[in-house]
Parts: sequence; C-alpha cells; structure tokens
Amino acid sequence: MQLIAEETAHSPAADFLPLNGTDYVEFHVGNAKQAAYYYRAAFGMELVAYRGPETGTRDRASYVLQQGKIRFVFTTPLRPDSEIADAIRRHGDGVHDVALWVDDAESAWRETTRRGAKSIAGPHVIEDESGRIRLSAIATYGDTIHTFVERREYQGIFLPGFREIPRPDPVARPTGLLHIDHMVGNVGWGEMNRWVDFYRDVMGFSLYQHFDDNDISTEYSALMSKVMANGNGRVKFPINEPAEGRRRSQIEEYLDFYGGPGVQHIAMATADIIHTVTKLRDQGVEFLRVPVTYYADLQSRVGRIDEPIEELAKLGILVDRDDEGYMLQIFTKPVEDRPTLFYEIIQRKGSRSFGKGNFKALFEAIEREQAARGNL
Ligand code: FE2
Repeated sequence: MQLIAEETAHSPAADFLPLNGTDYVEFHVGNAKQAAYYYRAAFGMELVAYRGPETGTRDRASYVLQQGKIRFVFTTPLRPDSEIADAIRRHGDGVHDVALWVDDAESAWRETTRRGAKSIAGPHVIEDESGRIRLSAIATYGDTIHTFVERREYQGIFLPGFREIPRPDPVARPTGLLHIDHMVGNVGWGEMNRWVDFYRDVMGFSLYQHFDDNDISTEYSALMSKVMANGNGRVKFPINEPAEGRRRSQIEEYLDFYGGPGVQHIAMATADIIHTVTKLRDQGVEFLRVPVTYYADLQSRVGRIDEPIEELAKLGILVDRDDEGYMLQIFTKPVEDRPTLFYEIIQRKGSRSFGKGNFKALFEAIEREQAARGNL
C-alpha cells in the first residue's frame, strides 16, 4: 500500500473540476416506496422530498432520503417501456448516479467533455418558485453517471419538481450516520487503470492510495484497487478490478450479478461506531462476521484504542492502524437479493487509510458468504 496524497494533491488554482462534495446518490430500484422504507427504518434516513404522478412527474416516482450530509434518491419507473426499467432488468437495484455538487455545472461539463468524457446531458436549467438549478451529466464506468449539480440560486428542499415532506419522519430511526467517506466502483478484468486514467485525466483526480493483489488476497481469490481523490480530498473513489486466484473473486461475482461494472459499496462515516452499529443491528441491518480469533491478537496488532475490545468483538467491528492513527470499520451484507451493493460503516480516528490490515479477514468473511450462495 502506498499513501500518495500529499505529494500529488492539486493546488486549488490548478483544479479544473472543483467539487464541494457528493450532492446525492440516485438508485434505480424495482419498488422505490419499499426501498425507501428499508433505508428509513433500518438505516435511519429521513424522507424529505418526493416526486411522482401526484407532483406532475408521469413516468417515475422518486423518494429523497437524508441523514447528516448523506442524501439518497430512490427512483422507480412507473411503466415497463423505459430506460430505467431496462437498467433494473439488467442490474437489479443499484446506483445509477453519483451526483457531484459544483459551483458551475456548465464549466464542469465543458472541462470534462473537452477531456474526453461522454456527455449524458448538456448544461440545462430547471426551475420552480424556490429558484434555479443548473445541471449537466457525464458517463463513468458501466451505466453509472455523474450529474453535476449547481445549486447556488436554489433555496428549495432538493430539486425543482420535488415536493417537500414535513418532518420529523415518523418512520426514520436515526443511527448517527454523518457523511459519505468513499464510494467504490467495481470494473472488469484489466480495466482498473483505464478508469484510474479517466478520473485523473478527465476529472482531475489524483492517486491517493493503491493496493495490489499481494495486499488483497486470500487462499482463493484476489483483487486490485486504486483510490482516486479529487483536488480537495472531499470525494474519494476507489476502483477495484478482479485479479487471478484459485476461485472466483467477490469482484467477479459482483460483475456477473450486476451485469457489468458498477458501484460496489458506499462507506458512510459515524462519530460513534459502537452506537451506530448497535442501532443498525437492532433495526435489521445484517453485517459480515469475522471469526472471534480476529480479536485475540487485536490489541497487539493495533495497540491502545479508546473502544473496549469486547464491545467491538460483540458487534464484529474491525480495527486498523497506520502512522497517523486508527480507524474502525464494518461491512454489511449486500442489501439486495443479488450479491451486489453493500455498505461500510467507518469511524476515522486520525487514519486516512482503508483498512488494509483487515482485508484478509474481511475477504475470507465475504468468501464464506459467496460459498453459501454457491458462487465461490
Ligand atoms: Fe471501503
């Protein structure tokens, strides 16, 4: 593993694609009403806005959910003859759009398409009584897109066309999730560097860390990963590709069931992982388990930490340390019946890394799940 951030970080002046952060993540799902309920009741997100036939949108329904700075949009098509319906048939439920918050959606589109991005939507304005939003969009890996959202002249709850839902949400049971730490993409064999180049050359990101198959391998399978970060470091996209192993890797399983490249996991940050994971578990979120032996040598591996190790062991939370501090993390099982998208809950205590010390234990846990599905 290499930590490369400082040397290659862009100066703001050189950043041709300044990003304020992730604006929203939009999912295409078979039943948005029920998906939204799961994220409200289990993950504790609040329903804040809606659009659908009742608000004048005829072909789809969308539910906007929020917790901390995390904003998810669940969209379902209302009729079978639509692009969204086709996407769901191929991929199942999954991430369609990783939307990025910018100050200038026109410039974001111009700078990226000039450097080779495929345009999905040119700059355009939508408006309602709360103001104007400028949007544009480009393609990334698979059928995934990046919408650029400029909301300087907008005071509404989300986007024009959405109706605000009164709060508090009686279904939501908040779990302390604060913001998105990183979002990981799975791409095909030999395609990692092509997408690393895309984020570097087209989006102005730089290489933050990288892991090869020696870092990330078990007895059976391997993968390679490079973490790309934007100029101010607020947006981090690790990119994974499968590597040769004795059995089918988790990345191959994903690619098979998703029908190509796509978002593998979204890491959400908390300031109190024991509280957050306890609540998530109580509310029905299922997590991967590592063997109890993982905790036997934890103290000697990571040194002194603030959290009681028995508590971490009870919940299955993993710990890793680097020169800058430590981090705690845990992974959910896939949240769809297809073994595709899952979540990571992460608490950083100084560390900026991605839990390299946990890769082996974690991937062995994933392989036990893969074997149970008959996919190893
Ligand atoms: Fe992660």
